[in-house]
Amino acid sequence: MTWLITGGAGYIGAHVVRAMTEAGERAVVYDDLSTGIAERVPAEVPLVVGSTLDGELLRRTLAEHPVAGVVHLAAKKQVGESVEAPLLYYRENVEGLRVLLEAVTAAGVPSFVFSSSAAVYGMPDLDLVTEETPCVPMSPYGETKLAGEWLVRATARATGLSAACLRYFNVAGAAAPELADVGVSNLIPMVFEKLTENAPPRIFGDDYPTPDGTCVRDYIHVADLAEAHVAAARALQASPGADLTLNIGRGEGVSVREMINRINAVTGYGTPPAVTPRRPGDPARVVASADRIAGELGWTAKRDVEDMITSAWEGWVRRYPGAARG
Ligand code: WQD
Repeated sequence: MTWLITGGAGYIGAHVVRAMTEAGERAVVYDDLSTGIAERVPAEVPLVVGSTLDGELLRRTLAEHPVAGVVHLAAKKQVGESVEAPLLYYRENVEGLRVLLEAVTAAGVPSFVFSSSAAVYGMPDLDLVTEETPCVPMSPYGETKLAGEWLVRATARATGLSAACLRYFNVAGAAAPELADVGVSNLIPMVFEKLTENAPPRIFGDDYPTPDGTCVRDYIHVADLAEAHVAAARALQASPGADLTLNIGRGEGVSVREMINRINAVTGYGTPPAVTPRRPGDPARVVASADRIAGELGWTAKRDVEDMITSAWEGWVRRYPGAARG
């Protein structure tokens, strides 16, 4: 089976390509290389460089390759940037998806896996977030992911496309150092950056209603996340007409303070954090209920927070060898 993986040169996409090919599937990558890196795509995997807004190139790509399904990850994903540039986010994430779905349905591709986000839930005031929790996104980024789910589901209902919307919680780690995230916009790389500068890592607020006052999140290893895509793709293939919406998390909350302590232990730095004011828009706690995906796909995460930090640190030290201690 050949899967077209949009965004397959990105951090998460490259992990999905790797998991797919390791599972014996074939992949074709479609990526505009705006943030993707061509070297992340294995030599034996064809790379088509183009935008999901380019319907003509999408049609040609789907005609040239025997694509049985699409995994769509190509998107903009910075929450802060989406507040500054909402039109860019709606164009890339919603219009790009609409153009892609047009090409997919015209070509008669039967299966579609959509990269969604826990950002669709906004500020859930709950212990565990289930897929039934109301979606109230708090940023244009989250809005585009929710609108994307609507587009995918409406198309699935109208055309019989089998579809899965996967709501990622906080993705971290790497399956290999060269596949590590090169962005510094999430907690773990932001802490690495401060430690490397010999500066204290920052805690954005310690007055939240959580056990240690810092925000709690559900961190998921990118290699586990990638394997969830393989499981979803295969489930769609096996059940034509399937319509799945699934959280991808571990169901375990980890606080910012706990995470910084563990990072300090793994890296050998031991630099005490500094507490700064809250970052606007951060919910106190966002932790997935991972029951539905376990029931539907038999998938559960295998890797823990230690694996995430260790593998992310190996990627960081590969890029910044001077960061290594000892
Ligand atoms: C985690 C926690 C920060 C850095 C975002 C998006 C979400 C998804 C993942 C794409 C928060 C705190 C961080 C630091 C800190 N994106 N923090 N000091 O905000 O949970 O989720 O990325 O799909 O949609 O919203 O992730 O890694 O930015 O922050 O205290 O130096 O760490 O305040 O509580 P977040 P994050």
